[in-house]
Amino acid sequence: MNGSINIISIDDLNVDQADQELARLAAILGQANHDYHSADTPALDDATFDTLKRRNAAIEVRFPDLKRDDSPTELVGAKPSDGFQKVTHSKRMLSLGNAFMDDDVFEFDARVRKFLGFSDSDGLEYTAEPKIDGLSLSLRYENGELVQAATRGDGEIGENVTLNSKTIADIPHRIENAPTIFEVRGEVYMSTQDFTALNNRQLEAGAKPFANPRNAAAGSLRQLDSAITKSRPLRFFAYAWGEISSSFAPTQSGAMAQLKSFGFQVNDLTKIRQSPTDLIAHYQLIKELRPTLGYDIDGVVYKVDDLELQKRLGFRSTTPRWAIAHKFPAELAWTRLNDIEIQVGRTGALSPVARLAPVTVGGVVVSNATLHNEDYIAGRRGDGAFIREGRDVRVGDWVQVYRAGDVIPKIKDVDISKRDANTAPFSFPEVCPECGSTAVRDDGDVVRRCTGGLICPAQATERLKHFVGRTAFDIDGLGAKQVEQFYADGWIKTPADIFTLKDRYSTGLQQLKNREGWGDKSADKLFSAIEYKRKIPLRRLLFALGIRHVGDASAGLIAGHYGSWALLEHALTSANIGDGPEWDALLSIDGVGSVMATSLIVAFHNDAERASIDSLVGHLDVLNAVQIENVDSPVVGKVIVFTGTMNRMSRAEAKARAEALGAKVSGSISAKTDLLIAGPGAGSKATKAISLGIETIDEDAWLALIDGL
Ligand code: IVH
Repeated sequence: MNGSINIISIDDLNVDQADQELARLAAILGQANHDYHSADTPALDDATFDTLKRRNAAIEVRFPDLKRDDSPTELVGAKPSDGFQKVTHSKRMLSLGNAFMDDDVFEFDARVRKFLGFSDSDGLEYTAEPKIDGLSLSLRYENGELVQAATRGDGEIGENVTLNSKTIADIPHRIENAPTIFEVRGEVYMSTQDFTALNNRQLEAGAKPFANPRNAAAGSLRQLDSAITKSRPLRFFAYAWGEISSSFAPTQSGAMAQLKSFGFQVNDLTKIRQSPTDLIAHYQLIKELRPTLGYDIDGVVYKVDDLELQKRLGFRSTTPRWAIAHKFPAELAWTRLNDIEIQVGRTGALSPVARLAPVTVGGVVVSNATLHNEDYIAGRRGDGAFIREGRDVRVGDWVQVYRAGDVIPKIKDVDISKRDANTAPFSFPEVCPECGSTAVRDDGDVVRRCTGGLICPAQATERLKHFVGRTAFDIDGLGAKQVEQFYADGWIKTPADIFTLKDRYSTGLQQLKNREGWGDKSADKLFSAIEYKRKIPLRRLLFALGIRHVGDASAGLIAGHYGSWALLEHALTSANIGDGPEWDALLSIDGVGSVMATSLIVAFHNDAERASIDSLVGHLDVLNAVQIENVDSPVVGKVIVFTGTMNRMSRAEAKARAEALGAKVSGSISAKTDLLIAGPGAGSKATKAISLGIETIDEDAWLALIDGL
């Protein structure tokens, strides 16, 4: 799996590489997430999953336009498997954002304070508790009676595991003095001792042992026969709640005490702390205790203690703003660098990948690592500063691999004392290894690129793969593998060829149904799947074209702006880079900057590119972009700008509220602005709004407008 990851330092990624990588990460993490939650057979261990997810999030922060609809950032769990009844959670079961370094903890505290409008000296308390490495479970009590237990599933719909959960000793069947409706959430886990014993029994019985206690717990809870679950020693820690008919405590710590009084196990390493420094001290303590706990934990969770503040802080898509998981670091290992291979991406970027003698790092076998770019291999950064004190990396070297933090796997160091005297520095290719075209490195760019364009098979196939990708044309039965095969045989060279496949290969000498792996049915199915995608929304088409810097989100905004292919095509064809009304119109689209605008115009003015686009569009029926549907909010679909001081909530909180109500919050006033909310001290934005005749209201009027929503 690692072999397919395009592993380049995030700082060095250009937009196309970032785009490609986000697509790959979405596929890898989606699959891993499915395996993790549904199949109990993880291909990625947790630390790898986290680092990949974090890398994905970091790329999204650097390239917000490229965030995909199926972004793993939005992933909470996986769809429930088929064996159990489905349960729709009355309140979504959420995930947690991660902190890996001390700085992340300080930033978390700063974010919370900023959101709440707290100064550094305002008192703010957090709880810090172990992050249990098990699987989350939601227990629903009605009138004190346990009526339902459900796994997280995808966060919205989980599996009904009531019978199985009732076999767990830590889960009370009845609780007293709790609210009438009371959903307790927590973690099902297996102790390390019970895990070892269970695996011994599995081996004796000739059954497959479990990879780790977490998988053993998941596999045991998700048994269709609850007698099996009963025979497995599962435990449960309560740490959160879902729907409750009345509040039962003012603070997180108070709630934990209440949960304990209702008969639940709560973790006694949970402590209240007043500052990030003290949180980190508690993290260090828990980290030291980790080997002695008798159960697996993978970090420490910090939560704002005051529940009123938690409510104000609310959530960002799938994670609360009021909590974060401070994860434990991953491990390091030495191994041999067997080879350096060069991968060529969709835009021709040459990316060096280290092929390693397989080595286990933190429980996972690693055989590939990023080497970022030619400077990195040579021991230099783009600005000439040393990396590894200037030590270069050569084929045959002993290298230290790690999978922590930013990216997995990475090379941390090289042991030159073990280097063979007759090795030579790696010479980075100046021609494309795939097509032999010159590979050039533009001034100021760390990446060397193949200049072959569509002549280069690597670029052409990567473009086709992008074209059929999930957020693009998403043609059933035509994935990366098929595209590669069709390309190799000359059946599909450009996107337009996809739409003539049926004409060319359903009759005559060569037919799709006669190819290996295909038959009457599958061929017909593919032809009709292609037929079906001739009607394509403008946004998808624009994204599928794979124009540099144009990610899915930007494609959506651009499509929304022009509305139809005819208008878009006309505007881009008549646009000039840097000036004129079409250029200004492009830049007026929120999220489109001059780099993206230039890239769009270049693509529409390049003869080969244009011929490919025109020929493709000739086969399509491009659907116009639709406007946002109305929902019950006065600001849905409206472009709103905040300016001046807000007294009743921070700017971040105001923005989050507005976005939650369907508004689009912009930083600047333009003719597209619908509403300006101006607080005291509003300056040029208010003046500009008046001159453009934009409705302007103050904070009180804003709060009145959204009151009760
Ligand atoms: S709080 C709204 N506390 O970690 C947030 N989660 O990565 C609810 N987990 O889905 C979660 N120990 O399965 C929380 N002490 C703890 C936890 C914990 C383990 C799990 C939980 C959650 C996942 C997020």
